[in-house]
Amino acid sequence: MRVPQLRRLRRNQAIRDWLSQTHLKAEDFILPYFIVGGRKLRQPIKSLPGIARLSIDNLLADIEAAGGIKAVLLFGIPDAKDCRGAQAYKGKGVVQRAVGAVKKRFPGLIVITDVCLCGYTTDGHCGLIKGGLVDNEATVKILARVALSHARAGADFVAPSAMMDGQVRAIRENLDRAGFNHTGIFSYSAKYASGFYGPFREAVGSAPTLQFGDRRAEQMDYRNSDEALREIGQDIDEGADIAMVKPALAYLDIIYRAKQKFNIPVAAYNVSAEYALVKKLAENDSTKEKELALEVLTAIKRAGADLVITYFAKEAIRWIK
Ligand code: PBG
Repeated sequence: MRVPQLRRLRRNQAIRDWLSQTHLKAEDFILPYFIVGGRKLRQPIKSLPGIARLSIDNLLADIEAAGGIKAVLLFGIPDAKDCRGAQAYKGKGVVQRAVGAVKKRFPGLIVITDVCLCGYTTDGHCGLIKGGLVDNEATVKILARVALSHARAGADFVAPSAMMDGQVRAIRENLDRAGFNHTGIFSYSAKYASGFYGPFREAVGSAPTLQFGDRRAEQMDYRNSDEALREIGQDIDEGADIAMVKPALAYLDIIYRAKQKFNIPVAAYNVSAEYALVKKLAENDSTKEKELALEVLTAIKRAGADLVITYFAKEAIRWIK
């Protein structure tokens, strides 16, 4: 009996490259940005090394300098918060102004906007509170207004992330009614209640202000996976164009199942603590960082993701050139 020689196919770099099955490309990546009002601002986020909150002028400069970025996901940090999240749907709100400026300067760049209330409410919840709980129906109505304000500003896709039932339908109907049939919905369909969002909450200031409760009544329980498929299926029925799984690295099985079951583009969000973890492990060693990050991003794509939202997007595009 001859021993099978699987190692023949790994003998050198040329053979390994020749036979490799998963390839990263610039189009795979979406870069998140945190935007603040004002000018010339760059506020580093301690728990997200290398990432800063930017004012719109610096956002434009950063996109320009990055070169090669194909898509961005914008989060706004309003100057003031209130109990209804009213800053979230202001025509001249920070995200709305950022979208306008970005689309004007980079018309070919795909602009996606996060649609949620957590960064805009004083209590830090993703929706409006009634009797100590997030009120689904009232929240969905506000989210539809927020999404329309982003579409009016020129967003290509709106990305609802509040995990309210019926949010995709409400947004789709509101967009269509106002003539924004062409604006897409990039839904955070399978979003888990995760400890891996920690640094993000520092970035948008939604953690210190979460005055009571947590998000476990809205976001999914990480012990479940069938539920993720129900969430995605429902979002597709309601009109989602792209479905997202979030987080990504600890949820590769969910990405895999989603891609096997549904034939729409699947995105995965490699979230803040997943990024911070790699940064920490690499200890400012850029070779190590590149190795670790590319392994993570490739794994997410290998699992089935068509798109990856990652704070490494700029570097990744440079590394794969
Ligand atoms: C909510 C939102 C969150 C993230 C993206 N959108 C946080 C949350 O649900 O608490 C997390 C992203 C990350 O951790 O990188 N609008």
